[in-house]
Amino acid sequence: MPCTDPIGVFDSGLGGISVLRALRLRLPGEDFLYYGDSRRAPYGDKPLEAVQALCDDAVQWLLHRGVKAVVIACNTATAAAAAQLRARYPYVPIIGTEPALKPAAERHPGGHILVMATERTLHEEKYHLLSQQFETRARVDAIPCPGLMEFVEQGIFSGPKLKAYLRAHLGPHLDRPVDAVVLGCTHYPFLRSAIRQIVGPDPEILDGSDGIARQTQRRLALLGLQNPRSDGGSVTLCNSLDDPAMLQRMDQLLNRPL
Ligand code: DGL
Repeated sequence: MPCTDPIGVFDSGLGGISVLRALRLRLPGEDFLYYGDSRRAPYGDKPLEAVQALCDDAVQWLLHRGVKAVVIACNTATAAAAAQLRARYPYVPIIGTEPALKPAAERHPGGHILVMATERTLHEEKYHLLSQQFETRARVDAIPCPGLMEFVEQGIFSGPKLKAYLRAHLGPHLDRPVDAVVLGCTHYPFLRSAIRQIVGPDPEILDGSDGIARQTQRRLALLGLQNPRSDGGSVTLCNSLDDPAMLQRMDQLLNRPL
Protein backbone atom coordinates (compact mmCIF):
# COMPACT_ATOMS: atom_id res chain seq x y z
CA MET A 1 0.00 0.00 0.00
CA PRO A 2 1.59 3.28 -1.14
CA CYS A 3 2.88 5.62 1.55
CA THR A 4 1.17 8.55 -0.19
CA ASP A 5 -2.30 7.08 0.51
CA PRO A 6 -4.37 8.89 3.17
CA ILE A 7 -4.73 7.88 6.81
CA GLY A 8 -8.32 6.98 7.70
CA VAL A 9 -9.71 8.29 10.99
CA PHE A 10 -13.15 7.44 12.39
CA ASP A 11 -15.37 8.16 15.36
CA SER A 12 -19.04 7.81 16.23
CA GLY A 13 -19.37 11.49 15.33
CA LEU A 14 -17.47 14.73 15.74
CA GLY A 15 -15.31 13.84 18.76
CA GLY A 16 -12.53 12.21 16.78
CA ILE A 17 -11.75 15.63 15.34
CA SER A 18 -9.88 16.29 18.62
CA VAL A 19 -7.61 13.39 17.63
CA LEU A 20 -7.42 14.53 14.02
CA ARG A 21 -6.10 17.90 15.22
CA ALA A 22 -3.28 16.19 17.11
CA LEU A 23 -2.54 13.96 14.10
CA ARG A 24 -2.21 16.97 11.83
CA LEU A 25 0.23 18.63 14.21
CA ARG A 26 2.44 15.53 14.43
CA LEU A 27 2.09 14.49 10.80
CA PRO A 28 1.67 17.67 8.74
CA GLY A 29 2.66 15.98 5.47
CA GLU A 30 -0.04 13.29 5.65
CA ASP A 31 -3.44 13.34 3.98
CA PHE A 32 -6.35 12.43 6.25
CA LEU A 33 -9.79 11.05 5.47
CA TYR A 34 -12.14 11.50 8.46
CA TYR A 35 -15.42 9.62 8.84
CA GLY A 36 -17.85 10.67 11.58
CA ASP A 37 -20.85 8.39 12.07
CA SER A 38 -23.14 11.02 13.60
CA ARG A 39 -26.23 9.41 12.06
CA ARG A 40 -25.80 6.36 14.28
CA ALA A 41 -24.23 8.06 17.31
CA PRO A 42 -23.91 7.68 20.19
CA TYR A 43 -22.02 4.40 20.29
CA GLY A 44 -21.43 4.67 24.03
CA ASP A 45 -24.88 3.47 25.11
CA LYS A 46 -25.22 0.68 22.53
CA PRO A 47 -24.73 -3.05 23.15
CA LEU A 48 -21.27 -4.44 22.42
CA GLU A 49 -22.29 -6.32 19.27
CA ALA A 50 -23.98 -3.25 17.81
CA VAL A 51 -20.85 -1.13 18.35
CA GLN A 52 -18.68 -3.86 16.79
CA ALA A 53 -20.89 -3.97 13.70
CA LEU A 54 -20.83 -0.17 13.33
CA CYS A 55 -17.04 -0.12 13.68
CA ASP A 56 -16.70 -2.80 11.04
CA ASP A 57 -18.85 -0.70 8.67
CA ALA A 58 -16.68 2.36 9.36
CA VAL A 59 -13.43 0.50 8.67
CA GLN A 60 -14.82 -0.96 5.45
CA TRP A 61 -15.97 2.50 4.40
CA LEU A 62 -12.41 3.80 4.88
CA LEU A 63 -10.70 0.79 3.27
CA HIS A 64 -12.86 1.11 0.16
CA ARG A 65 -11.49 4.63 -0.18
CA GLY A 66 -7.89 3.40 -0.12
CA VAL A 67 -6.51 4.37 3.29
CA LYS A 68 -3.08 3.04 4.32
CA ALA A 69 -3.86 2.97 8.06
CA VAL A 70 -6.88 3.39 10.33
CA VAL A 71 -6.97 5.48 13.50
CA ILE A 72 -9.91 4.62 15.77
CA ALA A 73 -10.43 8.11 17.19
CA CYS A 74 -12.94 6.84 19.71
CA ASN A 75 -12.41 5.24 23.13
CA THR A 76 -15.72 3.41 22.93
CA ALA A 77 -15.00 1.87 19.52
CA THR A 78 -11.49 0.89 20.63
CA ALA A 79 -12.70 -0.77 23.82
CA ALA A 80 -15.47 -2.63 22.00
CA ALA A 81 -13.97 -3.51 18.65
CA ALA A 82 -10.21 -2.88 18.21
CA ALA A 83 -9.17 -6.50 18.83
CA GLN A 84 -11.80 -7.82 16.45
CA LEU A 85 -10.94 -5.27 13.74
CA ARG A 86 -7.22 -6.09 13.96
CA ALA A 87 -7.98 -9.79 13.58
CA ARG A 88 -10.28 -9.15 10.60
CA TYR A 89 -8.01 -6.67 8.78
CA PRO A 90 -4.45 -7.80 9.64
CA TYR A 91 -3.00 -6.18 6.51
CA VAL A 92 -3.75 -2.62 7.66
CA PRO A 93 -2.30 -0.92 10.75
CA ILE A 94 -5.12 -0.06 13.16
CA ILE A 95 -4.28 2.38 15.94
CA GLY A 96 -6.69 2.71 18.87
CA THR A 97 -7.48 5.16 21.64
CA GLU A 98 -7.64 4.64 25.39
CA PRO A 99 -8.28 6.93 28.36
CA ALA A 100 -5.02 8.67 29.38
CA LEU A 101 -5.02 7.05 32.81
CA LYS A 102 -1.38 5.94 32.61
CA PRO A 103 0.09 9.46 32.22
CA ALA A 104 -2.37 10.77 34.83
CA ALA A 105 -1.30 8.13 37.41
CA GLU A 106 2.38 8.59 36.62
CA ARG A 107 2.15 12.35 37.07
CA HIS A 108 0.00 12.20 40.20
CA PRO A 109 1.18 9.21 42.27
CA GLY A 110 -1.19 8.60 45.17
CA GLY A 111 -3.53 11.17 43.67
CA HIS A 112 -7.26 11.36 43.07
CA ILE A 113 -8.09 10.87 39.40
CA LEU A 114 -11.45 11.18 37.69
CA VAL A 115 -12.03 9.31 34.43
CA MET A 116 -14.95 10.61 32.36
CA ALA A 117 -16.04 8.20 29.61
CA THR A 118 -19.01 6.48 28.03
CA GLU A 119 -20.82 3.62 29.73
CA ARG A 120 -19.59 1.20 27.06
CA THR A 121 -15.93 2.18 27.51
CA LEU A 122 -16.10 1.80 31.29
CA HIS A 123 -17.94 -1.50 31.01
CA GLU A 124 -15.41 -3.22 28.74
CA GLU A 125 -12.59 -5.49 29.92
CA LYS A 126 -10.03 -3.24 28.23
CA TYR A 127 -10.81 -0.45 30.68
CA HIS A 128 -10.86 -2.80 33.68
CA LEU A 129 -7.42 -4.13 32.77
CA LEU A 130 -6.14 -0.58 32.40
CA SER A 131 -7.58 0.69 35.69
CA GLN A 132 -6.40 -2.41 37.60
CA GLN A 133 -2.81 -1.42 36.78
CA PHE A 134 -3.21 1.84 38.66
CA GLU A 135 -5.72 1.20 41.44
CA THR A 136 -3.01 0.64 44.05
CA ARG A 137 -1.18 3.79 42.95
CA ALA A 138 -4.05 6.27 42.86
CA ARG A 139 -7.71 6.64 43.75
CA VAL A 140 -9.47 6.34 40.41
CA ASP A 141 -13.15 7.30 40.13
CA ALA A 142 -14.76 6.24 36.84
CA ILE A 143 -17.62 8.55 35.84
CA PRO A 144 -19.99 7.33 33.13
CA CYS A 145 -21.29 10.31 31.18
CA PRO A 146 -24.27 9.21 29.06
CA GLY A 147 -25.60 12.11 27.02
CA LEU A 148 -22.48 14.27 27.26
CA MET A 149 -21.23 13.68 23.72
CA GLU A 150 -24.57 14.96 22.41
CA PHE A 151 -23.69 18.49 23.55
CA VAL A 152 -20.71 18.46 21.19
CA GLU A 153 -22.73 16.90 18.36
CA GLN A 154 -25.21 19.76 18.78
CA GLY A 155 -22.52 22.43 18.92
CA ILE A 156 -23.14 23.30 22.60
CA PHE A 157 -19.90 24.11 24.44
CA SER A 158 -21.20 26.26 27.30
CA GLY A 159 -24.44 27.40 28.94
CA PRO A 160 -26.70 26.43 31.83
CA LYS A 161 -27.76 22.99 30.58
CA LEU A 162 -24.19 21.82 30.09
CA LYS A 163 -23.16 23.32 33.43
CA ALA A 164 -25.99 21.52 35.21
CA TYR A 165 -25.06 18.24 33.54
CA LEU A 166 -21.40 18.55 34.54
CA ARG A 167 -22.22 19.64 38.06
CA ALA A 168 -24.54 16.64 38.54
CA HIS A 169 -21.94 14.16 37.26
CA LEU A 170 -18.69 15.63 38.62
CA GLY A 171 -20.02 17.27 41.80
CA PRO A 172 -20.26 14.05 43.90
CA HIS A 173 -16.54 13.38 43.24
CA LEU A 174 -15.30 16.78 44.29
CA ASP A 175 -15.66 16.16 48.04
CA ARG A 176 -11.90 15.66 48.23
CA PRO A 177 -9.26 17.40 46.12
CA VAL A 178 -8.91 16.14 42.57
CA ASP A 179 -5.45 15.91 40.99
CA ALA A 180 -6.37 14.95 37.44
CA VAL A 181 -9.38 14.60 35.18
CA VAL A 182 -8.98 12.15 32.30
CA LEU A 183 -11.16 12.90 29.29
CA GLY A 184 -11.83 9.30 28.23
CA CYS A 185 -14.05 10.16 25.27
CA THR A 186 -12.75 12.05 22.26
CA HIS A 187 -15.74 14.41 22.30
CA TYR A 188 -14.87 15.80 25.73
CA PRO A 189 -11.76 17.89 24.85
CA PHE A 190 -14.20 20.27 23.15
CA LEU A 191 -15.86 20.73 26.56
CA ARG A 192 -12.59 21.33 28.38
CA SER A 193 -13.33 24.89 29.45
CA ALA A 194 -16.83 23.98 30.72
CA ILE A 195 -15.28 21.09 32.70
CA ARG A 196 -12.56 23.42 34.02
CA GLN A 197 -15.26 25.73 35.39
CA ILE A 198 -16.70 22.88 37.45
CA VAL A 199 -13.48 21.26 38.73
CA GLY A 200 -11.63 24.53 39.37
CA PRO A 201 -8.14 25.64 38.38
CA ASP A 202 -6.07 22.95 40.11
CA PRO A 203 -6.69 19.52 38.53
CA GLU A 204 -4.75 18.66 35.42
CA ILE A 205 -7.12 17.84 32.56
CA LEU A 206 -5.70 15.18 30.23
CA ASP A 207 -6.80 13.66 26.97
CA GLY A 208 -5.09 11.00 24.91
CA SER A 209 -4.98 12.70 21.52
CA ASP A 210 -1.27 13.50 21.35
CA GLY A 211 -0.45 9.98 22.58
CA ILE A 212 -2.47 8.52 19.70
CA ALA A 213 -0.76 10.84 17.22
CA ARG A 214 2.68 9.75 18.48
CA GLN A 215 1.66 6.11 18.33
CA THR A 216 0.44 6.59 14.74
CA GLN A 217 3.71 8.29 13.82
CA ARG A 218 5.71 5.39 15.31
CA ARG A 219 3.65 2.71 13.54
CA LEU A 220 3.90 4.43 10.15
CA ALA A 221 7.67 4.86 10.55
CA LEU A 222 8.10 1.24 11.55
CA LEU A 223 6.18 0.05 8.49
CA GLY A 224 7.83 2.52 6.09
CA LEU A 225 4.43 4.09 5.46
CA GLN A 226 5.23 7.74 6.29
CA ASN A 227 4.44 10.19 3.55
CA PRO A 228 7.79 11.68 2.43
CA ARG A 229 6.20 15.16 2.30
CA SER A 230 7.03 17.23 5.37
CA ASP A 231 3.94 19.44 5.18
CA GLY A 232 1.00 20.46 3.00
CA GLY A 233 -1.15 17.42 3.87
CA SER A 234 -4.90 17.62 3.26
CA VAL A 235 -7.98 16.79 5.34
CA THR A 236 -11.22 15.44 3.90
CA LEU A 237 -14.17 15.44 6.32
CA CYS A 238 -17.14 13.08 5.79
CA ASN A 239 -20.19 12.31 7.89
CA SER A 240 -22.89 9.65 7.70
CA LEU A 241 -25.43 12.42 8.33
CA ASP A 242 -26.01 13.97 4.96
CA ASP A 243 -26.35 17.45 6.38
CA PRO A 244 -24.28 20.46 5.24
CA ALA A 245 -24.62 22.00 8.73
CA MET A 246 -22.83 18.98 10.18
CA LEU A 247 -19.95 19.30 7.73
CA GLN A 248 -19.69 22.98 8.63
CA ARG A 249 -19.59 22.09 12.33
CA MET A 250 -16.85 19.55 11.67
CA ASP A 251 -14.83 22.18 9.87
CA GLN A 252 -15.30 24.59 12.79
CA LEU A 253 -14.16 21.97 15.30
CA LEU A 254 -11.07 21.28 13.26
CA ASN A 255 -10.03 24.89 13.58
CA ARG A 256 -11.58 26.13 16.83
CA PRO A 257 -9.27 26.92 19.78
CA LEU A 258 -9.59 24.32 22.56
N1 DGL B 1 -16.18 9.75 20.96
C1 DGL B 1 -16.49 8.50 21.53
C2 DGL B 1 -15.42 8.05 22.54
O1 DGL B 1 -14.28 8.47 22.45
C3 DGL B 1 -17.82 8.22 22.14
C4 DGL B 1 -19.05 8.93 21.87
C5 DGL B 1 -20.25 8.01 21.72
O2 DGL B 1 -20.88 7.64 22.72
O3 DGL B 1 -20.53 7.67 20.58
O4 DGL B 1 -15.69 7.25 23.39
